[in-house]
Amino acid sequence: MTILDIIEKKKIKEELTTEEINFFVEGFTNGTIADYQASALLMAIVLNGMTDRETFDLTQAMLHSGDVVDMSALGGIVVDKHSTGGIGDSTTLALAPILACCGVYVAKMSGRGLGFTGGTIDKLESIPHFDTALSEQEFFDVVKRVGCAVIGQTANLAPADKKIYALRDVTGTVNAIPLICSSIMSKKLASGADTILLDVKYGSGAFMPTPEQALELAEKMVTIGLLAGKKIGALITDMQQPLSDHVGNSLEIIGIAEVLKGAKNRLYYEIREVALRLLALTGKYTLKSAEAAFDEAISSGKALAKFAEMVEAQHGDKSYILDPSKFDLGAKTVVTADKDGYVVGMTAADIGRAVTHLGGGRMQKSDVIDFGVGVVMKVAIGSRLSKGDVLCEVYHRQKGLDEAVELIKGAIEIGADKPAPHKIAYAYVGRDGTEIY
Ligand code: URA
Repeated sequence: MTILDIIEKKKIKEELTTEEINFFVEGFTNGTIADYQASALLMAIVLNGMTDRETFDLTQAMLHSGDVVDMSALGGIVVDKHSTGGIGDSTTLALAPILACCGVYVAKMSGRGLGFTGGTIDKLESIPHFDTALSEQEFFDVVKRVGCAVIGQTANLAPADKKIYALRDVTGTVNAIPLICSSIMSKKLASGADTILLDVKYGSGAFMPTPEQALELAEKMVTIGLLAGKKIGALITDMQQPLSDHVGNSLEIIGIAEVLKGAKNRLYYEIREVALRLLALTGKYTLKSAEAAFDEAISSGKALAKFAEMVEAQHGDKSYILDPSKFDLGAKTVVTADKDGYVVGMTAADIGRAVTHLGGGRMQKSDVIDFGVGVVMKVAIGSRLSKGDVLCEVYHRQKGLDEAVELIKGAIEIGADKPAPHKIAYAYVGRDGTEIY
């Protein structure tokens, strides 16, 4: 078998065997297959696609290229959720304590952000002394004792994906469903959960621009998860406007604390939808009983207390969760509407870019994030406005204010007619098929 034969085969749309896919992944990871050969094969996959069986084999090969986390010694249900990412997406951090209060374990490995605000790990590190690099044993102990823990991805989780993704990024081969699916699923399946809910976003702030494309990706990922023997489902959710009103690192922790204290905003409704689906997937709950458990976790104050407990167990200063006014934010400037009307659309990506200009996200891996800058939205799609009304508050320090304000003003589209109501979720994909909302 040679890599050339494999490239030639995919070039003429033939199905690759399991052995050929393993040969490629092993060879590229250990350096015997060159970048230019891997690029040629990846481009052939972009153009000619992969069957579900090939995508499953590619996922398995990448998953077994590194460590596979084993959480079975916890002796309970271990759940995970994955979001394809977006602006103001703080769902993971609010969900973890809520789900732990509902009696399931959340052992979450998350990433840092590149571009558009920070990632989950950056947001957590805005809490003084929070440790996102616990040892494997400490991570396990915190999950066992508290019910939830969130750490950074270990270096050896699906290393083949890291190498392949880096090549895709510079060869125009990111945007292909079998490649995105195997990249995400190899990491998910290596993280040790038995029940997984995927939150696949669509819209300007997301990877997939339209709900139809997001649905296609979701269906493929659910198929691969089922083939791997997991309990898995996917929600298709809207990322046309920031998910949380708070966008930025410390600001998103403040937004999470508000939801855990009972605020009913877009973030709350999205978290509720994800939590109910995930709890029902475990088999421990029905959608109805999950609703009662979710509501109790928040109204009793237990979810907020659990978040503070997790922060303390990971060496963070929990007083910031109980009193978020302690966060050191930049100076505040308000942005106002230039005319009367309704908010008819938003370019969420530009609000993310505005936060990056302020220093709240990374343009390059080595950039240092300023946790205290960001944007608090005061309007959403459908809001009625009069000229001079506040659109958002911008928290800033030395850099980027003018660029951020210009981006935000351009991102919020004001029109004369009230737009149709915006749904948070577009569809759910489960074992039994797809339900359009
Ligand atoms: N996220 C990933 O981890 N991989 C992709 O290919 C796309 C998004």
